Order: sequence, then structure tokens, then C-alpha cells
Amino acid sequence: VATPSSTLRELLQAYGERVERALDERLPSANTHPAILHDGMRYAVLAGGKRIRPFLVYAAGTALGASAARLDGPACAVELIHTYSLVHDDLPAMDDDDLRRGRATCHKVYGEGVAILVGDALQTQAFHVLAHDPTLVDDPRARLRMIETLSYASGSRGMCGGQAIDLAAAGQQLNLAELEDMHIHKTGALIRASVLLGAYSARAPETVVEDLDHYAKCIGLAFQIQDDILDVTGETQALGKQAGADAAHNKPTFPGLLGLSVARERAAELVEDAVARLRDLDEAADPLRWVARYIVERGH
Ligand code: IPE
Ligand code: IPE
Ligand code: MG
Ligand code: MG
Ligand code: MG
Repeated sequence: VATPSSTLRELLQAYGERVERALDERLPSANTHPAILHDGMRYAVLAGGKRIRPFLVYAAGTALGASAARLDGPACAVELIHTYSLVHDDLPAMDDDDLRRGRATCHKVYGEGVAILVGDALQTQAFHVLAHDPTLVDDPRARLRMIETLSYASGSRGMCGGQAIDLAAAGQQLNLAELEDMHIHKTGALIRASVLLGAYSARAPETVVEDLDHYAKCIGLAFQIQDDILDVTGETQALGKQAGADAAHNKPTFPGLLGLSVARERAAELVEDAVARLRDLDEAADPLRWVARYIVERGH
């Protein structure tokens, strides 16, 4: 009998493989001129990773009746933005990390200059994928809305803004509201956009979009709370990135402010709030319910 967790594991694997192929098709080959840049882009993107954001695109879209083929472009776009954010997040001028997804960070292999350009090029590639996607020719409104949503979520009022708050916060004390604001921007915004792009692919009615948006805001914050928790409790090997990096850089975090058990409670409450908001959706939305719980139960 399929339990939710075995089913989720299978689905994560299946959508993970699907988006891996879709990304491979949408990235220039490693010997395309200039080869160093394209090789670096492929190194950063095709390096594993949990592919949670693409999963959310597929789970939200299929919950509302979209085909997986229609979700490939948006799933790739969010993962390209996410990977760009990781490449830049790891740079010496930011978190200065040597390990990402179980291997050397992009700048360690290609140098800082190329890693900056890899991030820049992945970012613009994300928007090219959405603008170019042939499955959206019948729905220019959805295409434009996706570009609008993803650009806002990635920019100064979304992820980039959150990263600017994070940079300024190193060594500072933030209160709970300030910490939540940082997390909602640096991580929540892109997770929210992932769910919304899935919903737009399916031409969901606005009331459903509002419910999914509430779900997505809750799990987006919970995701970064769990990331902070894992930085304390996880092992470098399992995480595929340096454990204890937040403390080493004096970053304000949820477990730092509230302690581990209150941070865990806060993340769990957010997930329950998220799942409650899916009450009007049928069992086609179960993957959204399962992945919400996975986000706070995951060990890496
Ligand atoms: C790490 O994201 C960075 C954050 C925004 C917390 P993930 O934990 O999704 O990293 P990958 O994609 O699986 O490597
Ligand atoms: C990541 O926050 C936020 C973005 C990459 C936008 P972290 O700096 O905590 O992510 P990790 O822990 O390095 O993956
Ligand atoms: Mg960071
Ligand atoms: Mg970091
Ligand atoms: Mg972290």
C-alpha cells in the first residue's frame, strides 16, 4: 500500500528526473561559445539539489489539472533563478562557502568572475525560458503573468531584497518580525512564485489562487526556518553544504533567536496553517499537502 511518504519520495524522484531533463534541454551545451560560461552554468544547475521549487510548480499545476508538459518551462525557470541565487549566495562577498550540493561551489571551480556571470546568465535564462516556452502560445496572459510574478519575486522586493537584508543583518540582533521579514524575502518569495506559476499554468480561478498563495507564503517561511534549524542540527555530508555556517558568520536565525524547539514549533504551525488552506481542493492536491510536511521534516 502506498503511504504518503513513499508516494512523496517517488514523486520527488520522478519530478526531479523530469526537471533534470527539461533543464538539460534548456541550457546551452557545455562546448557552446563561450564554453567556460556554459560549462559553469551546467555545473551549477545539473548538480542535484532537492528540486523542491520545481516540485511545487508541478504539484500546484497538476492539482488544478495542468499537464506536466505545460509545467516544464515554469519549473525550469524557478530552478534557474534558485540556482543563480545559490551561486551568488556562496560567493566570498556573501556567505563565502566552499561546498554546495555536495561539491565545490561554482566560484571554487571557475573563479569568482565566472561565477558572477554564471549567476547573471542563469537569471536571464529563466526569463528566456518563460518568454520562449511554446506550450504557452495559447495563453499570452498566463505567460506575461508568470514573467511578472517571477521577476518581482526575484528582485529587490523579493529574493534580492532579502539577500540585502541578510547581508546587513550579519552580526546584528534582529527581532522576530525583522527575522521573518528577511526570510519571507530571501527564500519565501521564490517558493511563493513557484506555487503561483503552477496555478497560472492551470488557469486557476482567483479564489483558488488566493488559497494557494496563502499556502505558499506559509511553507516559504517554514522552509527557511527549517534551513536555519538544519544549519545547527545537520551534518555537512548529509546537507551537501557546510553545517554551522550561520553561527560561524554570526547570522541571525530562528533557532538563534527562539531556540530549536520553539523554532520547530513555529515551522510546524506554519505547515498546519498552509495545509488547512487547501481544504477546498480534492486529492489531486495531496502532493502539496505531503510536500508541506516534508519541508519541516526533511533532514537535508
Ligand atoms: C537552499 O535551498 C537555499 C535556501 C533558499 C534555503 P534548498 O535547500 O532548496 O537547496 P537545493 O536546491 O536542494 O540545493
Ligand atoms: C539562502 O539562504 C537564501 C538564498 C540563496 C536566496 P542561506 O544562505 O541560508 O542558504 P544556504 O544555507 O547557504 O543554502
Ligand atoms: Mg545566505
Ligand atoms: Mg548561504
Ligand atoms: Mg542556510
